[in-house]
Amino acid sequence: MNLTAAQRAILDGERGAFPAKCLKWLVDWGEAMGAGRLIPVENTMPAYLSAPCHTLKGASAQQIEEYLQFIREFCEHPVTCTATSHIARFDFDDPALMDAGPDQLAAQQKLIDLALESGITLTWTCTPYLAGNVPQMGQICAWTESHAVVYINAFLGARSTRHSGETALAAAITGFVPEFGALLTEGRRADLLIDVTVDMKTDMDWGALGYFAGKHANIRTPAFRGLRPCRIEAAKQLCAGVATTGGSTLLHIVGVTPEAPSEAAIFRDGKPKEVYAFGPQEMQAVRETFAGRPGQAVDVVYFGCPHATLQEIVEIAKLIRGKQVQSGLQFIVATNYGLKATAKRLGFARIIEEAGGKFMVDTCPLQAPYLDRFKAWNCMASNGVKQVHYARAILGCQGILGTTEECVQAAVTGRWA
Ligand code: F3S
Repeated sequence: MNLTAAQRAILDGERGAFPAKCLKWLVDWGEAMGAGRLIPVENTMPAYLSAPCHTLKGASAQQIEEYLQFIREFCEHPVTCTATSHIARFDFDDPALMDAGPDQLAAQQKLIDLALESGITLTWTCTPYLAGNVPQMGQICAWTESHAVVYINAFLGARSTRHSGETALAAAITGFVPEFGALLTEGRRADLLIDVTVDMKTDMDWGALGYFAGKHANIRTPAFRGLRPCRIEAAKQLCAGVATTGGSTLLHIVGVTPEAPSEAAIFRDGKPKEVYAFGPQEMQAVRETFAGRPGQAVDVVYFGCPHATLQEIVEIAKLIRGKQVQSGLQFIVATNYGLKATAKRLGFARIIEEAGGKFMVDTCPLQAPYLDRFKAWNCMASNGVKQVHYARAILGCQGILGTTEECVQAAVTGRWA
């Protein structure tokens, strides 16, 4: 790889051993991916910047300490650009929920203190774009969370490849990323077309569409025909669905997303070679994958995968207002700390909490699948296709996909209707 003098100096240790190690990772990764150079990055989303749980299954005390040392080392180095973090391993407002003990809390506080100096913003959310980190068109980024990478590439026109926790950390510290894939105009072309012929009524429908498209796309780039502009909540579900069944870096919606004015503009030969129809039957097939039986007992209703917007919180509050969650049922709204504070100020959080619901900030249940309280869940209902998919795969409980209204109704009756 061709390195500039400045990059070679970092590699040679001009800024210390840790930045040198970080740059070496980026060079090795770039060479493996066929990148010819490293380019400046302006916006990053590192992951795993959270104190590991001391009950983490299978990890020895030494492994946990080594890991903590690694993230402390990262937080000790100044970041060169915008850096907001992916979710944490527990809710700092409610540490008991994830069994986070005093050591873990102290370690987390230490990270917060270090981050104050380094400049990293510990937002601990899978939707940084709801916490004020909104990359601009053409901006070079290094983001982790899979759906968020698709979202910023597709809907904002920013440019990010899919990053690991380590490469995003390395990018934030060194200020560089290897140039390949979606960072290049040629790497942003579509590979297949999904022809949507069904009426898209709810956010959940967009998640189902993404789930269908991800299966066909795998790591390629899908484009969609037949869609109108949608609200951010629907876009979030579409990207999460694509990133659940596949590993796409971006998607296009013809006539809607900024780089897809026409099919001719995004397909290499001006038109798609593969076309898949998504009509009522295909929509129904996804719903049947996550169907509940009428009358089936539900023990957790989960909103906020990906982390909820303020508008979603408002809608949930309106639906649950004056009602009561079934005794023993968990009603969870996951979001970032800042949006929970806003919802509290505006009264929407109180409505949800008075009905028996609770907020989960900074994290999500999939961060602690080893905890008995999550393993005890038999059936989760959610409007997020990614959450119900992983409820089955990671928590081992049944996931039912439903609209927000259907899920709220299940929370009140304790049964799937
Ligand atoms: Fe976020 Fe957890 Fe879903 S990290 S995207 S709420 S699986």
